Parts: sequence; structure tokens; C-alpha cells
Amino acid sequence: MMTLRFTQITDLHLGSARDSTLAGVRTAESFESVLQALERQGRGSDMLLLTGDLAADCDPEAYQILNQILVEEGKQAIWLPGNHDNFDLMVANLVDYPPIQVKVAGSWAVLTLDSSQPQKPGGHISEEQLEQLTQNLESHADKFVLLAMHHSPVAVGCDWLDQQMIDNGHRLYALLHAHGNVKGIITGHVHQPFAGYWGEIAVYSTPSSCVQFKQYCEDFTLSSDPPGYRWLDLCEDGIINTGVEFLQDFTQTPDLDSASY
Ligand SMILES: [Fe+2]
Repeated sequence: MMTLRFTQITDLHLGSARDSTLAGVRTAESFESVLQALERQGRGSDMLLLTGDLAADCDPEAYQILNQILVEEGKQAIWLPGNHDNFDLMVANLVDYPPIQVKVAGSWAVLTLDSSQPQKPGGHISEEQLEQLTQNLESHADKFVLLAMHHSPVAVGCDWLDQQMIDNGHRLYALLHAHGNVKGIITGHVHQPFAGYWGEIAVYSTPSSCVQFKQYCEDFTLSSDPPGYRWLDLCEDGIINTGVEFLQDFTQTPDLDSASY
């Protein structure tokens, strides 16, 4: 049976220089360490799904650095914006990676959705995005669907992050449920692993490629967990096999006293 291999890397928080840091961690270096770990796992040729917060602060240089690393490493990648990103700057600077809404592979269609909104950390699906998604679902009704977006539609158990869940999730769920072929959703934003269900749809969140948030905390709290990523095997029969890996050999440690990110 044919299996399609993808790797999700999320919340890169790249800055304007290669040595820019988030909570003391050099984010370009940690991203490159994740790519090296993929190589060692035998997943170096996976298509990458980059699920937002690719930049820490919408710096054009951050996207230029990302484009350069991806080209140097010979990667195929699909990206979407997070709350720390600016879509237009991404399009302008990720010159070798034009935005993709639908990637069809075998019996699967991977769809991207922009859940970000200007000046707010929380998630929202605009009317325009809902309309585009409706069209994409209709034209790929014969495929199994994996949906990728930045924000979670479900609570992950951290109060402060759960307040930033997609605020019109009921609209999104009604749409996805009505089509019946949506097998899974992958998200970023929460900087921690999560696996659950939204009705019949599997929902997965993934650790950041730089700094993690501590699980089950009421308020913003960093964790000392190392960078991570999620591998996904999409099987021909609609089954998703997936798992999270944390880097074993990463030597930089986050400054846990950082007040925000
Ligand atoms: Fe985010």
C-alpha cells in the first residue's frame, strides 16, 4: 500500500538574523537541527508542512533566511501563516515557495487554511477562508483530507492558550463534518504535543522547532523541552500514522524566566 510521508515543523520564530534568539534559543540553528534530525530518521525527503509563526516578528529577513535554508537543504515545503506572520511579506520573500492551498498526493489532499487575524494572537477563520475551503473541499471530495492551520480548534489543556482557540470553530466544524472525508487536522501555535478528537476528526498539535510551552498551565510558562517536530504517514486507505519527536542532542536551553514570547 502506498504511504505518503510528510513532516510538520511549526513555530520557527525566525528573526532578522541567523543568530536571532527566542528565550535565549537561536531559532535558525534549532530549525536546522530539526532538519538534521529528520535526515537521521530517514525522513529527509519528506514534504515539509510549515504551520505558521515562521517569523517571530514579521521580519522580511526572517522569510529570506527560511527560503535560503530550504533551498540549501533541497526541501519541498508548504507553508501557512500564524499570528506572528504577515502573509504578504511571506509571499514576497519566500520566493522559491509560492503559497499552496491544496497539495494532492495519491488518495490524499492536504489543504492549508489561514487562521490568523491582524493584531490578535487568537484564531479566527474569515469568510473568505471559509469560502475557499468550501471550494477546495468540494473539488477534492474523492480524496481523504488533511487540513493544516496555525491555531487549534480544540482546547489543549492550557488556559491561556485555550483562550486563543479558533473563535468561530463551529462554522469550520460544520463545514468539515458535512464533507465527511476530513481525516485529520494539524496545528501549531501551542508549542507542545497534543492529540485528540474534534467530533470524528483527529486533531494534532506539535512542539515548536525552537522553544516549548509547559503543558497544563493556566498562564504563560515555558518548558525546558527541546525542539521537536511531527512525522505523518498518510496511508492509501485514509489512516493517519503520526508521532512527535523531540531532539535528543540539542544543547541550547531556553531561558525559563522569559516573560513572554
Ligand atoms: Fe502562534
